[in-house]
Order: sequence, then structure tokens, then C-alpha cells
Amino acid sequence: MRKKIVAGNWKMNMDYADGISLFSEIVNMVRDEKNGDQEAIICAPFIHLNSLAKLGGTIVHIGAQNCHQNESGAYTGEISAKMIKSVGCSYVIIGHSERRQYFAETDALLAEKTKAALANGLTPIFCIGETLDERNNGDYFNVIKSQLTNAVFGLAAEDFSKVILAYEPVWAIGTGLTASSDQAQEVHAFIRSEIAAQFGSEIAEGISILYGGSCNPKNAAELFAQQDIDGGLIGGASLKSRDFTDIVKAFNA
Ligand code: 13P
Repeated sequence: MRKKIVAGNWKMNMDYADGISLFSEIVNMVRDEKNGDQEAIICAPFIHLNSLAKLGGTIVHIGAQNCHQNESGAYTGEISAKMIKSVGCSYVIIGHSERRQYFAETDALLAEKTKAALANGLTPIFCIGETLDERNNGDYFNVIKSQLTNAVFGLAAEDFSKVILAYEPVWAIGTGLTASSDQAQEVHAFIRSEIAAQFGSEIAEGISILYGGSCNPKNAAELFAQQDIDGGLIGGASLKSRDFTDIVKAFNA
């Protein structure tokens, strides 16, 4: 059975006090709703991570939203996977489309970041997804395949089997335009078939693939009911404790 996962991505939101109070609410609400085979994760800004991990990191796991590819050194302003692990985090988002777009992160760099995360005992939540133009051109399968091939398909099978993938169509992020459950399932099934071709069906069947992009309490149950959708990566709705909890509950709908 694949793990069912709801991960929140707070992005660059919440000052320290607001973050602590939102996370406390989320822990208290999710504690009663989560089943044994489910995982809830909050990926918060770096400065929150240490406190959140201490506050409730065993009930709602903690992740970062990025890491540097090197372990230490003269990289002013950067944070390494080792540092993230050292404050009690278990996860790190890698390759979010906002990092690719605004910080020019390439597939080759993301491959290095993924390796750094795994080497330091963090589970990468690796994001892939096409832009609106690429969807409209009908090019999206090629785009997704090349993101996988150039960043994570170079990993050893044992390492790859530890990765969580998140399909986030760029056109659906923060726009209120959700991929329909059929559109999302089509891409998730494609991703799983590409994994099977690369690493074999056992690994493909074991990898959790999350959907992200305007996922909310209203559409989560239908998305999560699809055969190849194993949960969600949630932006805006993870900033409200009720909405986030309702999305966690959507697995039981
Ligand atoms: P929204 O849920 O706000 O569309 O953001 C999705 C996302 O980018 C999660 O990483």
C-alpha cells in the first residue's frame, strides 16, 4: 500500500508568531483525523522549522521548501540539507515551479539537491509539471518525462524509491484553476508508467505521487479517489487550519 500524504507548502507566508499559532491549530485538528496509513506534512519557511518540529513534528511532520546542494561552505544565505535534518525535519520540497521560474533552478541542479537531501536522510518531495503553453501545445507528456529523466531518473533505484513526486501543473498553481480529476489521473498514470519503464513495476507501485494546484476541501476527495493520486501538495489552503484538516479528511470521504 502506498502512503497517503497531504503536504502543506506555506511558501513565503506567515511570520514567526503566526506560523507557530497556525501550526499548533493544525496539529490539534489533524491529530484526531489522521489514520495510520496517512501522513500530514507542513513545509514551512526555514526560520520556523526548529520550533515546529519541537511543537508537533511527530503528528504533523515538518519539511523545508528548498535546500542547497552542498553540505557546508561559503554560500552566504543558503541552508543545507544537513542543517534542515539537524532541526528535526524529515522532508524537503525540491524543484517547485516557483524555484525553477524565479531562481532559475535547472534539472541538473535539482538532481544535485535531490542527492544532497537523500544523503542527509531527508525525503525529497520532487515537483514536476507543465506550463499553460506546454499543456495547450499538447507537449506536457514530453515536458514531464524530461523533468524526470534529467533530474531523478539518474538516481540509483534504491534512492529513487525513497522520493515522493508531486505533479503540479504550473497553470493550476494559485490560480483557482484545478486540473480535473481526469486530467490529473492521466498525468499521474503516465508518471507511474515512466517510473515502471525506468525502475520496474515494484518501485513504480510503491512511489507516492501527489497532486498540487488549487487543491481545496471541495475538490480533494475526487482527486484523491483516483487510482494514481496518492495525496496532495497544498499551497493556499494549507494556510487555513480548517481547510488543511478537511483536505486530510478527504481520504476518508
Ligand atoms: P496552491 O494550492 O495555492 O495552488 O499552490 C499549490 C502549490 O504550489 C503547492 O506547492
